[in-house]
Amino acid sequence: MEQIRDKNLYYVGGYVRDEILGVKCFDIDFCYEGDAIDFAQKFNIIKTNKDFGTVRILLNNKEIDIASTRTEVYPKAGHLPVIKETACSLEKDLQRRDFTINAIAKNTVTNELVDYFGGLEDIKNKKLRVLHSKSFVDDPTRIVRGLKFSVRFNFELEEETKRLQEEYLDNINYDMSYHRLKKELVETFNLNIEDAYNKFVEQGIYKLLGENQIIPEIKCSIQDLIDKFNPQYRWLVYLGLYDLSNFELNKEEAAILNSYHKIKSIKPKDNVETYFLFNKAPLESVLLYAISINYDIATNYLENLKNLKPFVNGDDLLALGVPKGVAYKDILEKLLIEKIKNPNMTKVEEIELVKSQLLNGFLK
Ligand code: CTP
Repeated sequence: MEQIRDKNLYYVGGYVRDEILGVKCFDIDFCYEGDAIDFAQKFNIIKTNKDFGTVRILLNNKEIDIASTRTEVYPKAGHLPVIKETACSLEKDLQRRDFTINAIAKNTVTNELVDYFGGLEDIKNKKLRVLHSKSFVDDPTRIVRGLKFSVRFNFELEEETKRLQEEYLDNINYDMSYHRLKKELVETFNLNIEDAYNKFVEQGIYKLLGENQIIPEIKCSIQDLIDKFNPQYRWLVYLGLYDLSNFELNKEEAAILNSYHKIKSIKPKDNVETYFLFNKAPLESVLLYAISINYDIATNYLENLKNLKPFVNGDDLLALGVPKGVAYKDILEKLLIEKIKNPNMTKVEEIELVKSQLLNGFLK
């Protein structure tokens, strides 16, 4: 990064915060006090966005984003802000941000920290503090960001910030960008920290999902369940029992909820019914069933039934004289049912069973 140093160029946001906290940070945010596009002219520019005053350059084969200092306004509370002024002072740029801990800058030449709002003190005291009283009204996704940072770093909302959060949650403006909200919810719940879910419920943050939400009854530790079975869409295992109709879900996410709604009212009587209830369902749907309907039935499927497979296969059927074709699927499915009833069957016993009971009518 040596070549990019400039007295007007600062590291900002999460990068500075994480460095102070001594935790790993994956992306570096740069902010130029002044016009970043002018500044970038001496580098290899990949693209610029004049409206936003941002530029992407290529340095040592790495793509680096640099933003001009800017102020923003929220013409519509809860939606994306628009830029009011670019190339403003660094102080004004930092002032538009969410929490004091994210509003510290570090000069790229002197390494000096610029901390107008007491972010260092708040990091020391493990506090999350908004920079102004309209912060959550402008951008309610910051409530979820606060939740994310609180569980990630073990920080707490400072008193006034807590009060402002409560005030907003008692009077939510539901005309908001659910797209932005979803991004923060996904990041928060993909961390798989149960405490985030407890706070989400206790502090009433769940109300942000939409009107008339019902808090579901949870039958087990979601964190343990996720640790054990490792689903891809962790966030949906936490939030899939809420009404998510305000959110745009991708195909897989929608399929998970559809499948859960199909299986949730069915109670299988035995292992065979259990197997066929869940065998076409995504893992996340089965986990939602475990959490909300019946833990034992769902985990019995995942631990004992899901991967059951007879030893006998098509080659064995051929060797037994079954002509190739339609019968194979039928015989193997019947055998699978027997295997579910008796998982300890050996291959010899399976062949015996096929010969004695399942071949009727299928032999030449
Ligand atoms: N920011 C903000 N309000 C938001 C989102 C972001 O003020 N709703 C500001 C914060 O100063 C934040 C910076 O933009 O530090 C960069 O945002 P982002 O990359 O989303 O967050 P990080 O703080 O880097 O957090 P993470 O480590 O989770 O990526």
